Amino acid sequence: MRAIVIFASCEGQTLRIAHRIAQTMGKHGVPTDTFDVAKQSVTEIALKTYDAVVLGSSLHYGEHDRRIEWCIREHQRYLAKIPTAFFSVCLGILSKNEQDRHAAEDVTDELLSRNIFNPSRRTAFAGALRYSEYGWLKKRIMRHFAEISGYATELAQDYEYTDWQAVEAFAVDFAEYVLRCRHPDPIGPWPADATRRHQCHRQCVKERSTQLGNDTVIAGDAQTENANVE
Ligand SMILES: Cc1cc2nc3c(=O)[nH]c(=O)nc-3n(C[C@H](O)[C@H](O)[C@H](O)COP(=O)(O)O)c2cc1C
Repeated sequence: MRAIVIFASCEGQTLRIAHRIAQTMGKHGVPTDTFDVAKQSVTEIALKTYDAVVLGSSLHYGEHDRRIEWCIREHQRYLAKIPTAFFSVCLGILSKNEQDRHAAEDVTDELLSRNIFNPSRRTAFAGALRYSEYGWLKKRIMRHFAEISGYATELAQDYEYTDWQAVEAFAVDFAEYVLRCRHPDPIGPWPADATRRHQCHRQCVKERSTQLGNDTVIAGDAQTENANVE
């Protein structure tokens, strides 16, 4: 079993988050690789060798990175069959303005519905303001954005807003979900899960009788089956 985190990052915060997710999932029983769409084409990912996929992108000027959308489109059918997660990285969720706080969610909704992609888990993380890494113009644009949204505007410093505990909690939750999908508990607690227990038992009997070349074991004999379940 192996998972992959495919991410797009401009200034490095999504990269850091992607690596933390991969590391945390690894510690929780799901070895996970990372794939940076800036380094390799999304068409080169051997996605079918992975049992679960996390996709993540930062938001810039109200958009996710196009390469993440291409990746979803390219692998749409396979993604529909396996456990998947999606995360955005942005600053809007910290804004004083309610509309800005929901913008990441709205953009994600549009992206997912445009591509008919329905991830098992999705979230948005607060990113960072790294003034030291922006060019002259970007610095001014970001300070203006920061001023109206209520973030830090001191250009001599960088600011990280990511809640790393939330990132790890997201990774643990997804890893546990992946493991549950991979190894569903075949016989649930009794008696709350009685119906499932019965179905599971029928399935086991069917498989066993097929292996033995004996298909008379479950030939509609409900009484025998029920007796076996009790
Ligand atoms: C030029 C620029 C545009 C941005 N546009 C948005 C935006 O539209 N909405 C938002 O919530 N955050 C926006 N941000 C904040 C980024 O999403 C945030 O800084 C994030 O940490 C960037 O992640 P990255 O380093 O992985 O690219 C913008 C940042 C920059 C530098």
